[in-house]
Amino acid sequence: MSATVWFLTSNAGKLEEAQHHFQQLGIEVKGLDLPDTVVVEPQADDLETVARSKIAQAMNHLPQKDAMVMVEDAGLFVDALDGFPGVYSSHAFSTIGNHGILRLLSHLIDDDPVRIKNLRSASFQAVAALWDGEKVLIGKGVCKGAIATEIQGEAGFGFDPIFIPSDLDESGEPLSPGTLGTVSTHGQTFGVVGPYTKHQFSHRRRALEDLLSQLPLPDGNE
Ligand code: IMP
Repeated sequence: MSATVWFLTSNAGKLEEAQHHFQQLGIEVKGLDLPDTVVVEPQADDLETVARSKIAQAMNHLPQKDAMVMVEDAGLFVDALDGFPGVYSSHAFSTIGNHGILRLLSHLIDDDPVRIKNLRSASFQAVAALWDGEKVLIGKGVCKGAIATEIQGEAGFGFDPIFIPSDLDESGEPLSPGTLGTVSTHGQTFGVVGPYTKHQFSHRRRALEDLLSQLPLPDGNE
């Protein structure tokens, strides 16, 4: 297996996070920024299909023959909107934005703090796909939570200011609304708590960890 992964992204933050994770396996991660005309975003309902299509397209444009290539796709899935914006998150964010999502959910209100979180439940989901030279490996990560009733905070990006993650138990599993966990934002959005706290919940980190767990350990490690 080649020891370089070409990561199809133009996002420096994503690249850095992947480099950090793959370092432990002795694998170098390099960014591969191919134009939208070369790797076209397919029309599909789920993140895995999108990721697999991008891998297949990128494989013809790798800087090295037989190299490994990785893509990662994420989105916000709102239960009351049947998973919208989902695979269309990027487009939805640049068109209707956070205000638009809040408007679509404006009828879902309740005085009870638990009931309202159930009514407005949502998740961030991520899929990381890697061509290892022989096959495509898929890693998945989910961060459960709910959509706030108003924009809170300015940290992070995208839908962070309207997303309140569910508390986590000591093993990192999400708890049902109303249960206080060992990891908690105390009802605040990712836009308020910032990147350090968000990292503990991150769907993207979970997808990468799931992917890494499928790769062989470097020589000398059991
Ligand atoms: P991407 O596939 O990681 O580029 O994500 C697509 C879109 O989903 C982004 O443009 C954001 O609008 C949204 N999104 C994905 N992950 C996050 C997140 O962690 N916080 C906020 N928005 C996100």
